[in-house]
Amino acid sequence: MLPVSLQCGWCGRDYPSDVLQGLCVDCKRPLVAKYNFTPVAGQRIRDGLSSGPRSLWRYHDVLPLADSKNIHSLGEGGVPLTNAPRLAARLGFRQLWIKDESQNPTGSFKARGMPVAISRAVELGAKQFCLPSAGNAAGAASAYAALAGCRVRVYMPADSGEAFFAECRGYGAEVYAVEGTIADCGRRMAAECSPSEWFDLSTLKEPYRLEGKKTMGYELFEDLGGQLPDVIIYPTGGGTGLIGMWKAFGEMQQLGWIDERRPRMVSVQTTGCAPIVGAYERGAETAEPVANPRTAALGLRVPGAVGDFLILRAIRESGGCAVAVTEAEWASGQSWLASDVGLFASPEGGAAVIATKKLLDKRTISPDERVVIFNTGSGFKYPPSTWPQGVTRT
Ligand SMILES: Cc1ncc(COP(=O)(O)O)c(C=O)c1O
Repeated sequence: MLPVSLQCGWCGRDYPSDVLQGLCVDCKRPLVAKYNFTPVAGQRIRDGLSSGPRSLWRYHDVLPLADSKNIHSLGEGGVPLTNAPRLAARLGFRQLWIKDESQNPTGSFKARGMPVAISRAVELGAKQFCLPSAGNAAGAASAYAALAGCRVRVYMPADSGEAFFAECRGYGAEVYAVEGTIADCGRRMAAECSPSEWFDLSTLKEPYRLEGKKTMGYELFEDLGGQLPDVIIYPTGGGTGLIGMWKAFGEMQQLGWIDERRPRMVSVQTTGCAPIVGAYERGAETAEPVANPRTAALGLRVPGAVGDFLILRAIRESGGCAVAVTEAEWASGQSWLASDVGLFASPEGGAAVIATKKLLDKRTISPDERVVIFNTGSGFKYPPSTWPQGVTRT
């Protein structure tokens, strides 16, 4: 279904959805797709799910493509919600689930946003793409651009880890290593990629990566047999995962699938780069950029997010919170995902585990609540210094 309009999340100005769009031209903030969902459509869509593919395209009725022939898919979505009894026992929960986004093509949840954004942009005439990325988004953009037969330029911090660079080069992307953070990558890209030639896929600077990410919310509902969890723990950099799921829950209510009850959304960052945690604790509507962000959880090294106010809104409206963990802490969480669940997880997934433990210890979450922790990506592409430690016997 096509959106009726794209609406600025800050000032509310409407834009047509049938041409390529970037940020709101007035306030330079993200545009969000609005649909005309009704309970009648909701019933029809729900009835059709049983015959849909086991990928995020089973939700094509709530995704923004004019013609399904224009979908470029590698089978993304449909990843398991794993029951983790040993991790639950270690942390003190009765039950705990891990949504394992590492099982997506290219190894992370970034493979949900890119196929939707690239398929729709190509449908609207885009042929060349560019983006700054910590690594996982670059891999996904490069893979889907290759599939769609498009050029892509990716700009990554030089210390992102060789596997991210190798992967993007392998897909045929034009790959740039930039000294500094993702913000420096964005500045270099802006200087080198004219908007009239290169369509900007930066986080929340076009409206449709968010649409792909929202399918995590739809999937949880199906995974849990038509219910939502009490709490969702999500590692947050630019915020598309968290904002996307929050959007999904609003849409699901319009579709008549759920009532007004929602999971509490928990944003997880690291102490070396925690602008959202700082803003949440100050009660602020927007976040202050972090001057010198430091964390090896690369996807969380985002000093300033263009959608900060949307993240903070989702946290507060849901009754959730924002939590920071240290580097040593996320490393423990990552080891527990490996040894208790069998997942070679990203540092970001490890951070989410520790945030869950902290909230249980503070009794912000109770042991019998239904909690879903997101492991947003695989650990394999990160520098070996970040991998869970074990012992090799000779
Ligand atoms: C593995 C992983 N987890 C979490 C994030 C943060 O995602 P977002 O920027 O959508 O908040 C990223 C971003 O790069 C990532 O790669």
